[in-house]
Amino acid sequence: MKKIIAANWKLNPTTLKDAQKLAASITRTKKNTVVLCPPNIYLSQVSYPLLGAQDCFWQDKGAFTGQTSPLQLKDLGVKYCIVGHSERRAVGETDGQINFKLRALLEHKIIPILCVGYGTSVDQDDLEVVDVLRGQLDVDLKDVNLASVIVAYEPVWAIGTGHNATLEHAEKISIFIKAKYGVKKVLYGGSVNGVNAGGFLSQQHVDGLLVGGASLVAAQFNEIINI
Ligand code: PGA
Repeated sequence: MKKIIAANWKLNPTTLKDAQKLAASITRTKKNTVVLCPPNIYLSQVSYPLLGAQDCFWQDKGAFTGQTSPLQLKDLGVKYCIVGHSERRAVGETDGQINFKLRALLEHKIIPILCVGYGTSVDQDDLEVVDVLRGQLDVDLKDVNLASVIVAYEPVWAIGTGHNATLEHAEKISIFIKAKYGVKKVLYGGSVNGVNAGGFLSQQHVDGLLVGGASLVAAQFNEIINI
């Protein structure tokens, strides 16, 4: 089974030229479904078979300064959109807003990659983690058609730290999210690299990866997507 591997470039790189160069150096592999998510401002000028945005607004158009709409993303051929990333929740994005975004994206047939795991800590046991995730998912997924929603479990303490979750933990949480909410695909994210990616991808219920730092290094990301 093909896995989904999404690259979250975050606020990198800082020039269009570098963004184009990075995209050009990522293999067009058929082994997995690979989605590049550059900063929104580069989406129209970066070329790769599947592109995703890192965020969007929930309205199509109007007086909403600084926003990007799902309708605009669709017009550019964008197929995926990350929603509710920890770094957005950290600056005040609420689960209510995330729910609006999910519904708006699905209306335009853009596949949301919903991130959960903000507010978890490394010393929590699985049950405590599940409690935090419930608080997010109950609201995020309210009245959402789940058929094409992808959830990315990203324990916030693992993001950009070099300390990834254990394979067993990632698998258990994926099973919980699928069983409780009926979500079809769950990814793991948080300090994924060329060394640990294979372990996560071999878990039955981990359907892929959301990769930050390692997706900016072409050689490393190519290694991950060709596993
Ligand atoms: P990381 O980021 O791979 O650098 O930990 C993952 C993410 O934030 O999506």
